[in-house]
Amino acid sequence: MSRESLVSMAFQAPQGTKDLLGDAVTRWASVERTVRRLAGLYGYQELRTPLIEDASLFLRSVGETTDIVQKEMFRFEDRGGHDIALRPEGTASVVRAYLEHNLHKTEGFAKLLYLGPMFRAERPQAGRFRQFHQYGVEAIGSESPWVDVEVITLCLHILRECGLMGAVMWLSSMGCRDDQQRSAQLLRERLMKDKPKLCKECQIRFEKNVFRVLDCKNPTCHEIAWRSKASPFVLCEACAAHFDEVRRGLREAGVSFDDTKVFARGLDYYTRTVFEVRATGLGAQDAVAAGGRYDHLVEELGGPPMGAFGFAAGIERVLMAAEKQQGAGDAVPKRRGLYLAIAQPPLVGEGFRFVQQLRARGVSAVMDYDGKSLKAQLREADKANCQLVAILGEAEVKQRVMTLKDLAQGTQRAIPLDAFVEEVSRVMG
Ligand code: HAM
Repeated sequence: MSRESLVSMAFQAPQGTKDLLGDAVTRWASVERTVRRLAGLYGYQELRTPLIEDASLFLRSVGETTDIVQKEMFRFEDRGGHDIALRPEGTASVVRAYLEHNLHKTEGFAKLLYLGPMFRAERPQAGRFRQFHQYGVEAIGSESPWVDVEVITLCLHILRECGLMGAVMWLSSMGCRDDQQRSAQLLRERLMKDKPKLCKECQIRFEKNVFRVLDCKNPTCHEIAWRSKASPFVLCEACAAHFDEVRRGLREAGVSFDDTKVFARGLDYYTRTVFEVRATGLGAQDAVAAGGRYDHLVEELGGPPMGAFGFAAGIERVLMAAEKQQGAGDAVPKRRGLYLAIAQPPLVGEGFRFVQQLRARGVSAVMDYDGKSLKAQLREADKANCQLVAILGEAEVKQRVMTLKDLAQGTQRAIPLDAFVEEVSRVMG
């Protein structure tokens, strides 16, 4: 490519990724605050893990035959020849960190929270991104059905506080590993006569991991796999009892759920309880949050046998659903902070002193440094959604006052310069 065409080329964010600006950042930060506050109330502690991991971590946990590992992982060899992946989900990394830092020895039961970007090379569409953001929790070290109840309750509590009212929760149980072996056999029998019609990949999945046929996106495979409305999972007595206790606990906690829907989770590590929260108004990508129990993953990643349960939600989808349900434009952002407008450019230094004093007191204050006209500065203050505008001009300096307009209330008054910082701090209190 010539230098000229390179120079004139307009760069865009890569497919399936997006920039966040302005109000979007505010809404995003508000979800993150809600997540941290509520997870804290339930006793979850935040951890942060790297965005890259050894690819084999996901092969071992999410599963070699899953779409996530086979088709969607951003996987590359680094300069040292290591097989690296951008993390496609958080659970495997959290369990890896739990074991690497010996939390199984020091804490036993650990309740962990995470937030951050995940990467899947999926075909982008509404609500489906290649870099998306999850928040999630993992409660590691317990098989109690009450842990299932607590995590699901927390998941729904956060969604409610994020403004998402119209959502349904599908609840199911996939049974233990023995149950899954029996269920796989039954599913193979169910699909056997249509096996030749399945796509090439599903032919392999049929042998290696027949449950993965359930999440094939090929329409013929999908139709064959879901023709029977019956759940592909049969439960042993202990798993049925666990599932009953989870349902009883949720009812006691006043949580409604739908346990009649048949669905499959596209990750291999699940055992027993699984759930998905689907929001109205999102179209095809309506799963806003999902999770379940994974009682063998800790052991499979080199730790002792211990039960665990977690969920993750997609922040993009939570925000989209909340906006759809509340109606776009309903939420008028509150006016905040002060704009200090300068009538004459030489007063910038004087103005900057006031702005700094306000910032030191925790009041958000901004001003113009480019000699814009007073009218342009007032326009800017309005656009920036400031609550107060202070005007500093030569006349004001002579009279030792500052004009203070309250844009939220539509009032205006003169404040003695000496009392200005004190008064603004009081109003913005
Ligand atoms: P997952 O169902 O793959 O589960 O993803 C959880 C949520 O992440 C989805 O419900 C959706 O909101 C969001 N999500 C997934 N892929 C995309 C995408 N391409 N674009 C936008 N949002 C997306 C997990 O990741 C498990 N780790 C959940 C879990 C935690 N299970 C136990 N602990």
